[in-house]
Amino acid sequence: MRIVITGGGGFLGQRVARALLARGGLGAKPGGATQMSELVLVDQVMPQGGVSGENVRYATGNIADRSFIKRIFAPQTDAVFHLAAVVSAGAEADFDLGYQVNLDAARLVFEACRAQPRPARLVFTSSVAAFGGELPAVIVDTSAATPQSSYGTQKVIGELLVADYTRKGYVDGRCIRLPTIVVRPGRPNRAASGFMSSIIREPLNGETAICPVPKEAGMWISSPERAVEALVRAMEIPATEWGANRILNVPGITVTVAETLAALEKVAGAQYLARVHFERDPGIEKIVLTWPARFATARANAMGFGADSGIEDVIKLHMRALAQ
Ligand SMILES: NC(=O)c1ccc[n+]([C@@H]2O[C@H](COP(=O)([O-])OP(=O)(O)OC[C@H]3O[C@@H](n4cnc5c(N)ncnc54)[C@H](O)[C@@H]3O)[C@@H](O)[C@H]2O)c1
Repeated sequence: MRIVITGGGGFLGQRVARALLARGGLGAKPGGATQMSELVLVDQVMPQGGVSGENVRYATGNIADRSFIKRIFAPQTDAVFHLAAVVSAGAEADFDLGYQVNLDAARLVFEACRAQPRPARLVFTSSVAAFGGELPAVIVDTSAATPQSSYGTQKVIGELLVADYTRKGYVDGRCIRLPTIVVRPGRPNRAASGFMSSIIREPLNGETAICPVPKEAGMWISSPERAVEALVRAMEIPATEWGANRILNVPGITVTVAETLAALEKVAGAQYLARVHFERDPGIEKIVLTWPARFATARANAMGFGADSGIEDVIKLHMRALAQ
């Protein structure tokens, strides 16, 4: 089995690669891994000291380059995690780049999947940014996508393309709308929701964090561990279980900034709270505060997707990873 991860040098890409190596590949059903002949990590920037292994190959380039994508997908590619993206605040700041990478290059990836001798399985990472504006108190499986940002719009168009390519039999696509992933280690990227990681990560690191939204702001979040499990599960679940609907809200937990800080105090100590300063940023608020914080994910729960047990455990997972 040959697997390609676009955005393979990024936060989730590296973690998915590590998970696949640890499990020895992917199964046609959850839990039954088939050996990987090659794992190709595609990115424009590769991390220092990234995941490595006998069957791991790095391919550095721009996914908006048609000939590069064509080369990457030969020979037969069986499974694709399409993770490369210009993230939320980046796509809002640069309209053209957002559409070029999140839509035009995504379409090149879908076309490369379509060109395979056998239809590849494709996992497409969408986001809670698929929703915004006037929302119900709780988003359910049938809630309409109402994006209020360029990033969210690009993700929803991607979902629809994956669904249509799947309907035509060109790919076996699966789209998952991930919650905001907390805690993202290292330096912040251009995700508008990055402050949710910063208010935990920076204080624990002895640094100051700026929170650009009010304490009452709620977010729908997941740990990196649960997000990687969701990505792998989305790929492994048989097509028959997905049925005709290939777009899924995956489980997460609802937390406010205030609850996150209270959990940080409980898990790590009160001294860390003084390192978090509040400076409202209308640009960030305009994106993030339109995203829903409450979901009922009945379909994903029935398909075996799981959530973290609470924000304290999410912080503990991060502290454990730091200690390793
Ligand atoms: N992390 C989250 O909170 C979150 C939440 C919901 C959805 N997602 C989605 O999950 C995916 C992965 O997110 P992440 O947190 O790992 O982001 P990330 O920024 O760490 O990784 C994305 C990678 O894509 C690469 N990339 C961007 N443009 C490229 C191009 N033109 N050619 C080649 N590579 C390119 C970047 O270099 C980066 O390494 C993204 O599609 C993102 O929209 C993430």
